Amino acid sequence: MTDTNKTTNQQWGGRFSEPVDAFVARFTASVEFDQRMAKQDIQGSIAHATMLAKVGVLTEEERDQIIQGLTEIEAEIVAGEFAWSVELEDVHMNIEARLTQKIGITGKKLHTGRSRNDQVATDIRLYMRDEIDFLLEEVTRLQQGILSLAEQNTDTVMPGFTHLQTAQPVTFGHHLMAWYEMAQRDYERLLDCRKRVNILPLGAAALAGTTYPIDRYMTADLLGFERPTYNSLDSVSDRDFAIEFTAAASVIMMHLSRWAEELVMWTSAQFNFIFLPDRFCTGSSIMPQKKNPDVPELVRGKTGRVYGHLMGLLTLMKSQCLAYNKDNQEDKEPLFDTVDTLKGSLRAFADMIPAIEARKEYMYEAAKRGFSTATDLADYLVRKGVAFRDAHEIVGKAVGFGVKEGRDLSEMTLEELQGFGAMIEADVFEVLTLEGSVAARDHVGGTAPAQVRAAIARAHEELSKR
Ligand code: ARG
Repeated sequence: MTDTNKTTNQQWGGRFSEPVDAFVARFTASVEFDQRMAKQDIQGSIAHATMLAKVGVLTEEERDQIIQGLTEIEAEIVAGEFAWSVELEDVHMNIEARLTQKIGITGKKLHTGRSRNDQVATDIRLYMRDEIDFLLEEVTRLQQGILSLAEQNTDTVMPGFTHLQTAQPVTFGHHLMAWYEMAQRDYERLLDCRKRVNILPLGAAALAGTTYPIDRYMTADLLGFERPTYNSLDSVSDRDFAIEFTAAASVIMMHLSRWAEELVMWTSAQFNFIFLPDRFCTGSSIMPQKKNPDVPELVRGKTGRVYGHLMGLLTLMKSQCLAYNKDNQEDKEPLFDTVDTLKGSLRAFADMIPAIEARKEYMYEAAKRGFSTATDLADYLVRKGVAFRDAHEIVGKAVGFGVKEGRDLSEMTLEELQGFGAMIEADVFEVLTLEGSVAARDHVGGTAPAQVRAAIARAHEELSKR
């Protein structure tokens, strides 16, 4: 970065009687972070020049010179040879200045019929579209990872919890397919957000449109946008799409944090439900025995910054009058950090989940504790003609007895059980087994292994259409 004490901006310095203060130049500059959108800035400029030539504002020769120059600049940037300058404020003016340096006066014609206001809005949308497309693939990879683990655990019994107290037995595959459903909604939310990202603001110029005979449909087409925006004032000031994206990202992070929390609990000696390979964990510098689930913990922690960015962007846009305001430059850092955080977190989970091994015997043992089949006994009594509330009372007494005796319902004798309800017969032991309990919940959305297999098949079918 070059930075002298006094600077007169080449692109807009005309009406200024003194150079901008060096600190102010740095303070207002965005090139340190918005250079991330260089590729999209060039892509947008090439489409703009192509359109300008089509409508006769540029000659074909000028267009070709511009495209050639921009293509070379892109190569310089990719090679890390481009000299970014804070004096030139942002990515747009850096690239334009370099273009003029390379091809002379024709470079100065590129900005005809546009403003940085519609240019930056276009760049962000192009950038976000690229990132969303990548994120959609990552969510898909994550869903595939969940399915592969679920496939190995359609029949694995674990305790299901409410209030983190043992509730009823479920299959681990069923638990994982709950995660899959969350990820599926995340995918749909990103896809829905993409629809509103994929609209072209270029042509709005500073705020009111332009006097040149531009063809915005052509530019939209060239850049793969659905259509041009319909109001120039809204085009340069709208950041709803960034807020929507960050909201979708926040929900994804919230889901990841929930899974992270379960993984952290499940890897503990107290639960011991899963084995997390060493490559996803780290040790302690003082306690030699420690193997810490850092990856899920860190993802859980990173959720906070994404929520913060959502709140930041909402507040950035609050009360902003039309049209573009310099405030809007503040949209990029939260957006970029949201993208980076989400990419990292999704990648970590997509890599980690299929590598998890269920400790089936520990899950099974845990499910046997905590009277997880108590509801099954109540349902059994209902089938024998007892009203559900009375059945609830009978089983409650049996559980109370079991707590005192330190025995599960399945470990009581028939005579003991009959002491609570005379209608209980020997067939009761079928419903008191964990396998019997899960298999009995055999309807769409239920935990029975057959239903989990059906859910996995449905999911594969859905993923195969992507
Ligand atoms: N760097 C600016 C931004 O990120 C580009 C647009 C500046 N427009 C202006 N009129 N100052 O928003």
